Amino acid sequence: MRLSTSVAALLGFSAELASAVSTFSPARPPSLPLAVKSPYLNSWLSAGSDGGNGGYLAGEWATFWNQQITGWVGLIRVDGVAYTWMGAPKDWPQVVDQTEFSYTSTRSTFVSTVGGKVGLNVTFMSPVTPNDLRRQSLPFTYLDVAVQSIDGATHDVEVYADVSGEWASGDPTALINWDFGTSNGVAYHTFARQDQQEFAEVNQQASWGTWYWSSAEGDGVTYQSGIDVDVRNNFIQNGALANAKDSNFRAVNDNWPVFAFAKGFGSVGSSSVSTLYSLGLTQDNAISFLGEGSGMTTVPSLWKSYFSNGLDAMTFFYNDFGEASSLATELDNKVASDSLAAAGQNYLTITSLSVRQTFGALQFTGTDSAPLVFLKEISSNSDIQTVDVIYPAIPLILYSNPKLLAYLLDPLFQNQENGHYPNTNAIHDLGTFPIAKGYPDGSDEPMPLEECGNMIIMTLAYAQRASDTAYLATHYPILKQWAGYLVDEALIPANQLSTDDFAGTLANQTNLALKGIIGLRAMSEIAKLTGNADDEKTYGDTATSYIAQWQGLGINQDASPPHTTLSYGDGASHGLLYNLYANSLLGFGDFVPRAVYDMQSTFYPTVALEYGVPLDTRHTQTKSDWEMFAAAIASADTRDIFIQKLANWINVTPTNRPLTDLYDAASGDYPGLQFTARPVVGGHFALLALP
Ligand SMILES: *[C@@H]1O[C@H](CO)[C@@H](O)[C@H](O)[C@H]1NC(C)=O
Ligand SMILES: *[C@@H]1O[C@H](CO)[C@@H](O)[C@H](O)[C@H]1NC(C)=O
Repeated sequence: MRLSTSVAALLGFSAELASAVSTFSPARPPSLPLAVKSPYLNSWLSAGSDGGNGGYLAGEWATFWNQQITGWVGLIRVDGVAYTWMGAPKDWPQVVDQTEFSYTSTRSTFVSTVGGKVGLNVTFMSPVTPNDLRRQSLPFTYLDVAVQSIDGATHDVEVYADVSGEWASGDPTALINWDFGTSNGVAYHTFARQDQQEFAEVNQQASWGTWYWSSAEGDGVTYQSGIDVDVRNNFIQNGALANAKDSNFRAVNDNWPVFAFAKGFGSVGSSSVSTLYSLGLTQDNAISFLGEGSGMTTVPSLWKSYFSNGLDAMTFFYNDFGEASSLATELDNKVASDSLAAAGQNYLTITSLSVRQTFGALQFTGTDSAPLVFLKEISSNSDIQTVDVIYPAIPLILYSNPKLLAYLLDPLFQNQENGHYPNTNAIHDLGTFPIAKGYPDGSDEPMPLEECGNMIIMTLAYAQRASDTAYLATHYPILKQWAGYLVDEALIPANQLSTDDFAGTLANQTNLALKGIIGLRAMSEIAKLTGNADDEKTYGDTATSYIAQWQGLGINQDASPPHTTLSYGDGASHGLLYNLYANSLLGFGDFVPRAVYDMQSTFYPTVALEYGVPLDTRHTQTKSDWEMFAAAIASADTRDIFIQKLANWINVTPTNRPLTDLYDAASGDYPGLQFTARPVVGGHFALLALP
């Protein structure tokens, strides 16, 4: 794949909006990440032709992952002439000429020229600091805007940016309040729903908490809140704002209140000058949880452990840009060098797009001494702590900081070990985000074999990486309970769902059985590490016996080439054997014989379609996370086919919402369901999580 592609030209976008054509590097994602930091701070720019404009920041609204507009406007004046660099406000001035878009793991950068006179670089940075919980806990994001003269002359330049009340509620008729202040060198607008409803959402947006939209206090900075068209026109006419607050608190959509800053740079020459903004949502409490004790408890946001209030958190974040930038560059470089070394540029195209999306689905809560990380199963019904959504994401989690996996598993252990779940199998999820009330009546989505295998495999994977055998001892009784379920059910799986529940139920799923059997092998290892020698032998013997039988039941040896089946006895069927990955992740060597790896590796290219290898023979759809699990343990040739097809798909797919993991491998489009911004793309790091 080319490193840089003029997708706009390929797609036939004309010059109606932009007179320049942008390059996209390393690819043009279906949707470009702008502010992607937490489940509620999650805003993107649609690019794919299903509904996007090809990836141009000016002339289209940024949207929340669930597609509501998150009003965000950027304007610039050069020698008194106004241009639009972000958003699609009413009667917007001519757009700047976007020439480049690029992304890294933490940044999205748009490079434009303005009237041929000024260069404009707009960088969205959502920090990801897996080993620095204090910084990771802050639900804030940066926007940096830099300008310089590019024609040898000097120019008068003023830059404008606003956000609208749309960030504060998914209900545009909700009433909001706002204010303006300064603190520690930071000028800020704050706005919030008048009717605060803790733990409630409308259209997936939070109905509680306070938003901060900030910039530097000082020279040439003016501010204003007010009616969208008035405030923007004020800037367009004057290049500055009124330093005034609108005192008429009202609904989000009632004369659209916006919160704006303008920065006058004066005369700008060839050296780059810049202005920095930050945006974030502070909520004292994050999650309602049934864990320890008999009733629901309120779990604070983790940032509360480090900062006394939202204002302190905001000023720290704003003034931390220098350090945050270095940490971001460190992570960008680490992902880049590791991905390039593992499988080259196509692989980096995939991994670097997946970092913010994965971390953006995580809510960091609890306290510094006992953090809890809650995951939102974004777009596929918003379950909280879905075990088979955490599982596909663990490659990135293990790669970045294995401790985070324990913080994700802890809520599941706490809920079930305190007697809040009656079934002997492992639970599927803890409810609907942000209310983790569990299923005291055992009525969760039934995926018993999948989740028993997942819990045991993930717990061991964490303990291995973090050298934490105490964790295994602490949870031994319930792990053993789940292993008992696997002894009874793994070899001949009953008719049931696997994690790919959109495909429906099926008996004797070959891939699902393999997960259960590897789960038993993992339980033997857990027994060994905790000094339970009898259990080590019993589970080990059972796993060894099952894996031998499984090869007889699940492989079509007569096919040319041979392959595993989708379900026992259905010789013509096949599917991605992604559960084999766990055998390698946990270092089990020849427990599953090498011949099985080689067989699948030879087989996959024979059934590959244009954009990937189908998930199974029921449909032409596939899952990008499972493709990367399969790729990670395949031969180099087969691995590269998977990776090349996925990287190409990212660049050309018509899908337009934040990266879907489920797509049609023949058409490249949505297969019907529109999965959006799901954290399972952490699985794209499968190559980098192997021991
Ligand atoms: C924008 O980025 C490019 C590439 O890094 C750089 O050469 C240019 O000077 C930057 N422009 C501004 C205005 O900072
Ligand atoms: C599952 O496979 C076993 C072993 O081949 C077989 O005995 C059983 O009938 C199968 N179950 C179903 C529902 O097909």
